[in-house]
Amino acid sequence: MKTMNWGVLGPGSIAQTFAEAISQSEHGKLTAVASRSVERGQAFAKTYNVPTVYTSYEDLVNDPNIDIIYIATPHSFHYPQAKLCLEAGKHVLLEKPSTINTQQIQILTKLAQQKNLFLQEAIWTRFMPCLAKVKEKIEQGVIGDIQYITSTIGFAFQHRKETRLYDPKLGGGALLDLGLYPIAVSQALLGEQPNVIQAMGRVGERQIDESTLVNMHYPSGRYSQFTCSATGHCPNTMTIVGSDGNIVLPAMFWDTDQAHIYDLNGLVETIDMPHQVNGFEYQIEESMRCIQAGKHFSDLMTHDESIGIIQIMDEVRQQIGLQFCAEIEAL
Ligand SMILES: NC(=O)c1ccc[n+]([C@@H]2O[C@H](COP(=O)([O-])OP(=O)(O)OC[C@H]3O[C@@H](n4cnc5c(N)ncnc54)[C@H](OP(=O)(O)O)[C@@H]3O)[C@@H](O)[C@H]2O)c1
Repeated sequence: MKTMNWGVLGPGSIAQTFAEAISQSEHGKLTAVASRSVERGQAFAKTYNVPTVYTSYEDLVNDPNIDIIYIATPHSFHYPQAKLCLEAGKHVLLEKPSTINTQQIQILTKLAQQKNLFLQEAIWTRFMPCLAKVKEKIEQGVIGDIQYITSTIGFAFQHRKETRLYDPKLGGGALLDLGLYPIAVSQALLGEQPNVIQAMGRVGERQIDESTLVNMHYPSGRYSQFTCSATGHCPNTMTIVGSDGNIVLPAMFWDTDQAHIYDLNGLVETIDMPHQVNGFEYQIEESMRCIQAGKHFSDLMTHDESIGIIQIMDEVRQQIGLQFCAEIEAL
């Protein structure tokens, strides 16, 4: 495989996890970073040995040496920045959630296909080998037929100093940031889109959803239910309940490197697959394999599945009355 040059937009918290992972990659090279602040850009570049720092996102996007851009900015910027990258002819690894609403992700996936570029939503869980192993075990029938999936995901962010999760202009709230994971993991395990969605949620003074509870029914008759919270400290586990046993993904279930399989008598097996680096390596390597193969997305997380996730979140937002400002919903 040829070496691929990566650029990062937004050297925040998750960009650091990405930079640590790519530093161990044989074919991926972090070549440039763009920050609105020269100090932040330079500090990131120094820590992760990045040769070029831009203080304008547009300048990085137009750098002819860059093959693929990792977008690690808050939710409200994903759509305009991914569009900018694709229009400039760059492949894109786009942090979750792909966009704020369904129309935005539909436009991006069409654009990537028209331009023959790779566009991938970076739901890291979907690329983890442990999740593939869990899926394999389910398909082998170790827990019988799945009856339902249940999970919680949430943290008491009010105890943290600053959080983008409480800013509606950045597309904050529990659902888009955290609720996305139970939806995405259920989608991977059940392989279908729900046909009934019932949601309840508290949209507080901050104008974001603080805690949201969702029940999803699938055409096969199975269910997935979850609670996500930006104000409550959750157990953060997922249980896949079958007719002959169950599988527990321990906390944090979306950082999937372990799973406990139980039959009717108790624990029968623990799958233990520690990450080679920090869990980001799988989506980085898969992105490069797909680009090399001329694909527009990975089969592990397709464009239709990204669209399906946002469709569910649009429906939940409508049911709980979570509206964002027109500016971030715009096309
Ligand atoms: N896969 C995962 O496990 C995981 C975990 C956490 C977050 N995420 C996702 O990653 C994305 C970024 O999250 P994060 O926690 O890394 O956020 P963060 O620490 O707040 O960093 C976001 C970066 O975006 C840039 N930015 C540009 N305009 C901004 C604005 N108006 N306000 C704030 N920041 C702005 C900032 O960089 P400059 O100002 O330096 O340009 C900032 O450093 C989100 O989509 C989030 O859902 C994924």
